[in-house]
Amino acid sequence: MPTEAMRALCDDYLSAMAGLATGVSVVTTDGPAGRRGLTVSAVTSVSIDDAGPILLVCVNDRSGAGRDIVANGCFGVNMLGQDQASLAERFASRTDAIDRFAGLSLVQGASGAPRLAKAFASFDCQVLAEATMGTHRVLYGRVLSVSTGADRGPLIYSGRRFCSVAPITAAA
Ligand SMILES: Cc1cc2nc3c(=O)[nH]c(=O)nc-3n(C[C@H](O)[C@H](O)[C@H](O)COP(=O)(O)O)c2cc1C
Repeated sequence: MPTEAMRALCDDYLSAMAGLATGVSVVTTDGPAGRRGLTVSAVTSVSIDDAGPILLVCVNDRSGAGRDIVANGCFGVNMLGQDQASLAERFASRTDAIDRFAGLSLVQGASGAPRLAKAFASFDCQVLAEATMGTHRVLYGRVLSVSTGADRGPLIYSGRRFCSVAPITAAA
């Protein structure tokens, strides 16, 4: 049973973190465990070593997607463009009501993961390692290829709202 002080700490943490501006991605996978896709803001570039880039994504264990990504051994990270908030909502909505992939153009990467043809940028990844941290599974991916088609800005999530980037003009 959490104490009142612990509840207050977690509330403060969530309020502060809601202000963090992140990109919004759809993480996809396919293989023996089946095709899955979900909206994720927890994507971080980790490193580049001699074998190439490494990134990570954090998936809540309430979602079976983390388990299926590990079983498939592959995932795609599809950064959404500023005109794709409806896709972010679609891939975060209940799957019993809709097929999240319906009508989307997909490109299969070398890893076997499907990628969204119209993403702002996408990364084809092989699962390199995983770790469980609290309620989330952290999935590290070796990036096999990158696709960029950035003809518009990225979709941003901050203050629990979807936004686009507005550059600050430096004062003269
Ligand atoms: C903007 C946004 C960001 C999200 N970020 C994450 C995230 O980083 N990790 C995560 O596990 N779920 C995240 N979610 C929630 C999942 O997309 C949502 O719970 C989804 O339904 C999970 O897929 P499932 O229903 O197939 O398990 C996010 C949702 C939204 C709208």
